[in-house]
Amino acid sequence: MADNIFPIFDKSLSSNEKESALKQKGLVVWMVGLSGSGKSTLATGLENRLHQNGFHTMLLDGDNLRSGINSNLGFGEEDRIENIRRAAEISKLFALNGTVTICSLISPTEKIRNMASEIIGDKYCEVFINCPIEVCEERDVKGLYAKARRGEIKNFTGIDSPFEIPKSPSVDVKTNEMTLEDSLDYLFSSIINKIKI
Ligand code: ADX
Repeated sequence: MADNIFPIFDKSLSSNEKESALKQKGLVVWMVGLSGSGKSTLATGLENRLHQNGFHTMLLDGDNLRSGINSNLGFGEEDRIENIRRAAEISKLFALNGTVTICSLISPTEKIRNMASEIIGDKYCEVFINCPIEVCEERDVKGLYAKARRGEIKNFTGIDSPFEIPKSPSVDVKTNEMTLEDSLDYLFSSIINKIKI
């Protein structure tokens, strides 16, 4: 850290004080998965479910962040690292403020996920939105797999850019084997004890 920076972390209100006021614990629900695996659908579904149950939430979606704070980043390895670093730092701020923060970003490599986990610390909860690439490509909701196959998009995750299967996620949601409603029930019940005071 630069010599002329003087952080005041020790003087600001603590995470516990924020959580007591909100009557909930902050958490980062970090959703990992291929494009088309169901991350955004589950992220918005989970946020709605939490809201209905009285929790204060924030949703940070990869495409949303890439249209704002991360709009200067592409899909090469270095830019993906920076994309995840910023998302992790932002979600850490929200979680320390007591918010249940849902992040949906591909987060394609072990290295990238380890970085997010290290930045966020013990409030990091990794959720693998688990769907085989053949199914994601078949769904091709955004038409991006077809473009990647035609060579119109370079470095597309799962086609010509790597996706490493998460080794030990806290939650594993197999979206091609469950209905959306069942996936949401499973996800909600997997995190509820981590956010209740
Ligand atoms: S990450 O790899 O850096 O975590 P992120 O989640 O932010 O990716 O962005 C992925 C989204 O960007 C996809 O859902 C898709 O809509 C879009 N996208 C555009 N180009 C690519 C690409 N080359 N690889 C993957 N996703 C892409």
